[in-house]
Amino acid sequence: MKSSSTIRAALAAAAAAWSWPARAQSDAGIPRLETRGQATQLVVDGRPYLVLGGELANTATSSPDYMRPVWPRLARMNLNTVLAGVSWALLEPTEGQYDFSLVDEALQSARANNLRLVLIWFASWKNGISSFAPAWVKADQARFPRVQVQGGRSIEVLSTLADASRDADARAFAALMRHVRETDGARHTVLMVQLENEVGILGDSRDRSPAAEAAFAGAVPAGLTNYLAAHAGRLRPQLAERWRAAGARASGTWAEVFGSGPATDEIFMAWHYARYMERVAAAGKAEYPLPIFTNTWIVQPEDHGPGDYPSGGPEPHVLDVWRAGAPHIDLNGPDIYLPDFTGWTARFHQNGNPLFVPESRGDAQGVANAFYAIGREAGIGYSPFGIDNPGRLAALRPEGAQGPAGRIEDQPLPRGYALLRELSPLILEAQEKGTITAVSLDPVRQKESLALGDYTVNFDLRRNFRNPAQVPPFGYGLAIALGANEYLVAGSDIQVTFSPRSPGPPVAGLSRVEAGDYRDGKWVRGRVLNGDDILLDYHLAAAAAENQSGSGLKFMAGAPTLQRVWLYRYR
Ligand code: DGJ
Repeated sequence: MKSSSTIRAALAAAAAAWSWPARAQSDAGIPRLETRGQATQLVVDGRPYLVLGGELANTATSSPDYMRPVWPRLARMNLNTVLAGVSWALLEPTEGQYDFSLVDEALQSARANNLRLVLIWFASWKNGISSFAPAWVKADQARFPRVQVQGGRSIEVLSTLADASRDADARAFAALMRHVRETDGARHTVLMVQLENEVGILGDSRDRSPAAEAAFAGAVPAGLTNYLAAHAGRLRPQLAERWRAAGARASGTWAEVFGSGPATDEIFMAWHYARYMERVAAAGKAEYPLPIFTNTWIVQPEDHGPGDYPSGGPEPHVLDVWRAGAPHIDLNGPDIYLPDFTGWTARFHQNGNPLFVPESRGDAQGVANAFYAIGREAGIGYSPFGIDNPGRLAALRPEGAQGPAGRIEDQPLPRGYALLRELSPLILEAQEKGTITAVSLDPVRQKESLALGDYTVNFDLRRNFRNPAQVPPFGYGLAIALGANEYLVAGSDIQVTFSPRSPGPPVAGLSRVEAGDYRDGKWVRGRVLNGDDILLDYHLAAAAAENQSGSGLKFMAGAPTLQRVWLYRYR
């Protein structure tokens, strides 16, 4: 007689053999990142998808009662995707015993409100700290060692050098992904997963626990040095300079290969976070291969060095280290609350790293950010933080902006998302073709001219007609080339003119301008704009001297609006 374990093994093998073709078939349609033309896009159910997202407060999903009124409100705010936390501590309160009830609750509520989800795996680290690890992990420092900082004290941060912590996290993450596949593999409510949250060491530039000290004194792993050699011409400048300054060595200790100092400590930590998270990501993807990304606490202006900001996190200057160490992580995204949104998005959208902004502002400036990320940097999507708290939508508004209107639907973000949502098919097609651009302007950067199709599109902050020096606190715009002489422009508080880029008559005139909307993928025109609607400057001779007609598109303050324009040329 066969033992029960032999029978179980035989049944499992038979089940695996049977389920394989079905699994392979269903895997074909699961959300994935795909390079399509000039952009890398998130593909859901076979079609590109633009994430108009919002991230919940860290612990919002721990209380279904708290979330009950929130879900329908998020749908009314025109979000299509919610970034929702999953706590390791609540998922695995006892080692090896999983409680998926909160995940199921979020899945059902999202579906009931026609929303998709991006799950955030708050596990080994959340803003560097290990507070979301289960109590059985926190309490067992011998099995799950902590980071030690200078002076020998330990902090509440799991060390990346501990295989037991990594494997425990990976087991729980694999269980989560298995559960998502089993419950959502045919529905695709869950689109992506953020692995951990803003990792890195705060308070020191590197881990100084015994295991970390030993690793730091040892050789740089060949996985990293080989990557540097193979990508030598394409590395980000700071890392490349450090490596070359130390002799571009193919082997050696960390100090030999990169020199000594906090910057090398940061590279060392980046490698070890990447390796740890690579194993966790790979374990999850073996169960269900959704796209996986990380988010970054970016360097703040007052920071002096790594450790003031989380050391080892996927900052742009060490992204190559992350790429080398964590190939199962599909992208690294920035959390941008700082003013230089345009600079940070450019720094992250480099070297094959597609842009997704998992955290940022949700006020009117946030709408400008969303337009810019999606229109200028081919962003996969945008997601303001604290989306369950309506106060946050207005709390960060710049001085001078109008106060929030009464209904949530009338706030800047829901109105901005409404427009981006109706334009999504056009935007995604234009990202693929490279026929889209965008600007985010302010009194410091008041104008920007960008080549798009056969014309240069000149964006400018909207000028006061009588006092052109008077400009609004910010303005933004997005343009799509629809045809040879035809553009669609969306914007707020800007004015737009065009300049021909090809040989021929040098002035672009407006043949026709329509205000309107896209409804169900079709342009529905409103007013045909003319006269005061398009007049920028009565000084026609001065305009002519600059190959301008004196007319252009004008977009008022407040929620963004759409105009479609047909151009002609004259001399
Ligand atoms: C950034 C973190 O990633 C979020 O989880 C949250 O703590 C916000 N900061 C708070 O502003």
